[in-house]
Amino acid sequence: MITTANSSARIRILALIFLIAVLIMIYPRSAQTGSTIRIQSWNLRYDSMPNDITVGETIAALNRTVPLDTQTKYYSNYTEQPWSTRRIGVKNEVLFNEADLFTINEGLHRQVQDLRELLDMPYIGVGRDDGAQAGEYQAIFYNPDSIELLSNDTFWLSDKPFEPSKYPGAGSYRSCTVGYFRTIKKSTRFVVINAHLDDQSDDQRRLGAALIRYRAEYEQETKKVPVFLVGDFNSQVSGETNGAYKITTGRFEFPTDKLNSTFVSKYNHSGSGFEFLDLLEATPVENRQGNLATFTGFKNNVDSFSRIDFQFGANTSSWEAVRYKVGENWYDNSYYLSDHRPVISDILLK
Ligand SMILES: *[C@@H]1O[C@H](CO)[C@@H](O)[C@H](O)[C@H]1NC(C)=O
Ligand SMILES: *[C@@H]1O[C@H](CO)[C@@H](O)[C@H](O)[C@H]1NC(C)=O
Ligand SMILES: *[C@@H]1O[C@H](CO)[C@@H](O)[C@H](O)[C@H]1NC(C)=O
Ligand SMILES: *[C@@H]1O[C@H](CO)[C@@H](O)[C@H](O)[C@H]1NC(C)=O
Ligand SMILES: *[C@@H]1O[C@H](CO)[C@@H](O)[C@H](O)[C@H]1NC(C)=O
Ligand SMILES: *[C@@H]1O[C@H](CO)[C@@H](O)[C@H](O)[C@H]1NC(C)=O
Repeated sequence: MITTANSSARIRILALIFLIAVLIMIYPRSAQTGSTIRIQSWNLRYDSMPNDITVGETIAALNRTVPLDTQTKYYSNYTEQPWSTRRIGVKNEVLFNEADLFTINEGLHRQVQDLRELLDMPYIGVGRDDGAQAGEYQAIFYNPDSIELLSNDTFWLSDKPFEPSKYPGAGSYRSCTVGYFRTIKKSTRFVVINAHLDDQSDDQRRLGAALIRYRAEYEQETKKVPVFLVGDFNSQVSGETNGAYKITTGRFEFPTDKLNSTFVSKYNHSGSGFEFLDLLEATPVENRQGNLATFTGFKNNVDSFSRIDFQFGANTSSWEAVRYKVGENWYDNSYYLSDHRPVISDILLK
């Protein structure tokens, strides 16, 4: 009897080991490794010298002759070029980086249409002056081969967030675009918010950052997915303009009762504690690359250089900053593609 009991116990143990082995084999690798997405964000400089030149005409006029290096004056032309010229280099930067999501600031309707054509990517976002085509878009382009859009909306960074509106004392109407996405390969869901805060009013920047943080916390609590925030903050990490950065990263509090009450109740949540982590800081130091400053101006000096364009991830969600780079807005034999540099990051969604 003892032998039988022993052997049936042995069989049970062997069956258990076999079951575990099978489970390990069929356990999807995806669940172990997650999805990596690449987000490129870039303030493109608005189309300040509009013209009627088509994309086809710009490409036809490109000089096909490769210049001689011995006759080239490197980094010599500091003049701002029209968007019609800059757009080709912008397109190549995005395609070369193979961004899954490309977010822009200052894009006027024509710029957004050009990029849709040049990148062959759909976008979300509306013109901030009328909620349609007027004014700058905080557009989010996404690669339809890797990313699917689930929902999207725009709100204004003002006292009337649900209508095109300007904060008193701000230089411009200010808006942000919210996109809820999933990766096609592994169906990992996430939210991206693309914002541009005011260049003149620090009060607007603080209010804008607080509205975004409130909305982001709601998104995180209700959807339980990673939430990212990108864009031009016109706010530095330190110094006189740092309010928006500090509110975003939880170093300053902003009273909720100063936010629009309709907004506050629509996106009500428990508010159990939330902050955004600067993806540059969250990235392992050995995986940080490129420039520090994101704003350069169209200049030949570094006086106005500053780091005001950021990417952030919600601290309460599950992701990992893998790589981070502030790229180039100028190559040695060309001209400034924008007065800002692109920010590019690889993020592992878990
Ligand atoms: C094209 O570039 C070459 C090499 O830099 C230069 O010699 C030539 O003048 C350019 N042609 C035009 C039409 O600008
Ligand atoms: C810079 O480029 C623009 C546009 O191509 C041209 O009009 C301007 O003369 C150039 N400036 C210099 C200093 O080469
Ligand atoms: C994105 O927003 C636009 C404009 O509000 C809307 O027409 C469109 O249906 C939205 N798309 C999705 C997938 O939610
Ligand atoms: C809040 O925003 C809504 C929609 O934009 C607006 O109609 C309302 O007047 C605002 N509330 C206050 C108290 O300003
Ligand atoms: C907001 O949500 C909390 C729970 O998360 C709830 O206790 C509270 O009553 C809600 N407030 C409003 C105004 O809906
Ligand atoms: C996120 O940040 C908040 C505010 O600083 C903090 O209370 C909370 O513990 C953080 N959560 C995680 C998971 O780090």
